[in-house]
Amino acid sequence: MTSIPLCLPASITAEQFLAEYWQKKPLLIKQGLPQLIGMFEPDDMLGLALEEEASARLLTQSATKTEGQAQWQLKKSPLTEADFDNLPEQWTALVQNLEQWSPELGQLWQAFDFIPQWQRDDIMVSYAPKGGSVGKHYDDYDVFLAQGYGHRRWQLGKFCDKSTEFVADEPIRLFDDMGEIIFDEILEAGDVLYVPPKLSHFGVAQDDCLTFSFGCRRPNLMQIIDNMADIATNDSDLFIPMILPQALQASGELQADSIQAIKNQLLQMLQSDRGDDMIRQAVSEVVSKRQYDALVPEETLDTDELMQALAEGATLQADYNNRLIYSQTDDGIILYANGQRIDGLDDVSTTVLIRLASGEHLTNQDITDIDPDELSEWLENGWVWINYPE
Ligand code: SIN
Ligand code: CO
Repeated sequence: MTSIPLCLPASITAEQFLAEYWQKKPLLIKQGLPQLIGMFEPDDMLGLALEEEASARLLTQSATKTEGQAQWQLKKSPLTEADFDNLPEQWTALVQNLEQWSPELGQLWQAFDFIPQWQRDDIMVSYAPKGGSVGKHYDDYDVFLAQGYGHRRWQLGKFCDKSTEFVADEPIRLFDDMGEIIFDEILEAGDVLYVPPKLSHFGVAQDDCLTFSFGCRRPNLMQIIDNMADIATNDSDLFIPMILPQALQASGELQADSIQAIKNQLLQMLQSDRGDDMIRQAVSEVVSKRQYDALVPEETLDTDELMQALAEGATLQADYNNRLIYSQTDDGIILYANGQRIDGLDDVSTTVLIRLASGEHLTNQDITDIDPDELSEWLENGWVWINYPE
């Protein structure tokens, strides 16, 4: 089972969080993620921002706003040392997808095991010196803002909607009016603030400060439809000519009746067993896809080294830089990794991968029935991560 306690106040259960707070209300979790304390220093993250393959942004803010000119400037990666020369007083460096640089940090997702893995997006860090912020804004997704170093003052205001107007001509989404401030507190390292989608928020660094955003996501319906089209491209059943109402009509006209008839056929197909299969496959592929390309792995262990490490007490865990999920179907359990269905697994391997996908830490004894070469392949694919005892 997980070795990291859930990131929730002692007085709130996971069920309560999901019923009362998730997507509805903010929640402060004092010392919800103490593991972050001392894990990284600002220099670690600034170094990462300069990595060629990092997905990073540098946001600077001029002290005063000049009419007709942007107050904020945004530079996207690749960032260079020169970008950090002559910075104004207020700036922020952001790096996305930290799981790929630090599996140890990725493992902290376990503190959020009450949120299904497929709804998690990535961990982003922001570094800012005193006074730095990314402005008043809202996000479309749920986020857990975890303080890793220093202090940040967070203010929360009103819920926004499509009509919320952003400041014109700025490179990021910002607005001036957060409405009534409903929360105003300084977070210290280890504290976590849950912010639901569309709630306006504003975080200002009080000193050299690292904030880690554990961000969530929801699949977009258009992505699902797009994926279904890919799945069915070669499905000849779907090319059977459509039988449409054969009433006399002007040859240049496309009648509303004909459109309706095609729509009905589409809906019937979606509601059939074939449609269920296609939707399940499309959703599973979309939600198990990585958002960022994987880095070329550093040298991995060969099979003998892996078995040796496990024999010496290392554990096998899901690598949260990759996505391993499963779904139950009438024909049994199907596993997906990084947008692709995993075929050809026997029952033993399926059971072990399900346990890994659900966050279990497996020891040597849990994997005795698995072919070591198969385990080694999982490690090479990046589905699993080997954690050495301290
Ligand atoms: C930050 O860490 O400064 C920004 C994170 C957010 O507002 O979502
Ligand atoms: Co935000």
